[in-house]
Amino acid sequence: MNLFDVYSVWPIEPVKAQGCYIWDENGTKYLDMYGGHAVISVGHCHPHYVESIKNQLDRISFYSNSVVNSLQNRLATKLGELSGYSNFSLFLSNSGAEANENAIKIASFHTKKRKFISFGGSFHGRTVGAVSLTDNPAIWSSYNCNNDVTIIKDFCVESVEMSLKTGDYAGVIIEPIQGVAGIVAPHKDFLNQLRLLTSSYGALLIIDEVQSGYGRSGRFFAHQYSGITPDIITVAKGMANGFPIGGTLISPSITPSKGMLGTTFGGNHLACVAAISVLEIIEQESLVTNAYNMGSYLKEQLVKMKDQYPDVIADVRGEGLMIGVEFMSGFEQIRDLILKEKKIFVGSAKKSVMRLLPPLSIDKSIVDHFITCFNDLIVKITN
Ligand SMILES: Cc1ncc(COP(=O)(O)O)c(C=O)c1O
Repeated sequence: MNLFDVYSVWPIEPVKAQGCYIWDENGTKYLDMYGGHAVISVGHCHPHYVESIKNQLDRISFYSNSVVNSLQNRLATKLGELSGYSNFSLFLSNSGAEANENAIKIASFHTKKRKFISFGGSFHGRTVGAVSLTDNPAIWSSYNCNNDVTIIKDFCVESVEMSLKTGDYAGVIIEPIQGVAGIVAPHKDFLNQLRLLTSSYGALLIIDEVQSGYGRSGRFFAHQYSGITPDIITVAKGMANGFPIGGTLISPSITPSKGMLGTTFGGNHLACVAAISVLEIIEQESLVTNAYNMGSYLKEQLVKMKDQYPDVIADVRGEGLMIGVEFMSGFEQIRDLILKEKKIFVGSAKKSVMRLLPPLSIDKSIVDHFITCFNDLIVKITN
């Protein structure tokens, strides 16, 4: 059987990883400034993470949600403590798309309405509901095209209000920093305006922190820069450092009922211990602060480079370790060189944005190494 061929892949097969580094089958070492698409939060193969999963495997790896699993409560308690959302409740699933599917379902159950607002540039996942909220017609099938989603461009407050005024909307979903769009954040105060509008028109505010959450932005959640409290928050990627998991955090104003949501694999024993160990490491190693400090330092160095090479670098943006570098023209050449010559993985968005999403455990010497390599390549292509 062949694989269904949907991915464009780099011709590299990682076989080993540690901290911020990856090795291929020939023993070539690569620096990971991409974190497997913002997934690697505490660093590859962190010993506490590995030990927690191995120990759990020896005990019990799975049983269904029809029995008590106190690991889920331990995870929820720890997540509440570290995120500042102890009064919220947690529904566990397996991916970011699922976390969002559950969020829209909860909002729809709660408000008894079916329409949603999302925003230009948004990415919320590829499952039926999540993809219909995503601003990318190229990945919609006919089945996903419905009249229940209004995609509002340019973060226009007036358009949001005009839609919400109809009273037909269950909720508004937004990424506080859009990742797939190329590290794009709405203007300052936009989240506060959304909070006011959703509250006054009876819609729920869902914040998609699948990529920006879990410390990546330099705060536990990126929306915490704005001071708002959403009704629902969704998480996945960094939550278990690569073990599949998703979470929907739900405000105490929303009441659950038996059978309202469900899943076979969500909240399984292995996923829970992986996620608990991630939170323990984030806490013990102060990784949210590290993401803030290292992210600020990295951004500072990149801004200096932008000033030095204004014909090459158009913009540097983002928070913490979620940074976008926009090039004046396509960055394919740099991307190829950075991988082939400098042995560094970076992400991309659109054709012109380099996305940096390294493990939150990155240190200054690694940032300096990256900047030196990146600078060498800019000198090379501009000469
Ligand atoms: C903001 C955001 N939401 C949702 C998703 C979907 O997550 P998953 O691929 O785990 O379904 C992604 C994935 O890139 C994302 O960046």
